[in-house]
Amino acid sequence: MTGPTWLFGYGSLIWRQDFPFLDARPAFVTGWERRFWQGSHDHRGVPDDPGRVVTLIRSSGRRCYGRAFLIEPDVFEHLDHREINGYRRYPVDLGLPQAQVPGVMYVADTDNPAFLGDAPIDAMVAQIRRCAGASGTNVEYVLELARALRALDETDPHVEDLAARLGTTPEGH
Ligand code: BEZ
Repeated sequence: MTGPTWLFGYGSLIWRQDFPFLDARPAFVTGWERRFWQGSHDHRGVPDDPGRVVTLIRSSGRRCYGRAFLIEPDVFEHLDHREINGYRRYPVDLGLPQAQVPGVMYVADTDNPAFLGDAPIDAMVAQIRRCAGASGTNVEYVLELARALRALDETDPHVEDLAARLGTTPEGH
């Protein structure tokens, strides 16, 4: 990467920006859906009891909405470290309000060792309620993501379902 690059954020990047960026826009990617199917044994859980965080799953024709950040190449070094634990960078075409641009996103593939996959909703809720890691509780992660999506005028049924079962605010559980 030689110049500023658009990074698509669909998880914690939407609500926790501890990195510099030159621009930020609402954005979407086509052919993907957000799911709480990735295990977190560092940020939102521990190795013996991993929490659940989002990854993207291929889904023909569906759109995942989030936020794109224009970042300098050196910022990826910080994010690669922050997002270690099964995620890798994918090139992707991003939909911005007025344009389609090439970009990059982090995806945890189904074959990474921390991948958890689907589970009954009650089991997911129980796991999220129980888990916490170095960055805080797993509940906070879900509720902050739901809140950030609503602030973008977006709702994601999977995120909303979990958020509704967990409480409406990070303080409300
Ligand atoms: C995101 O917000 O896009 C994201 C954050 C962490 C890992 C993967 C994706």
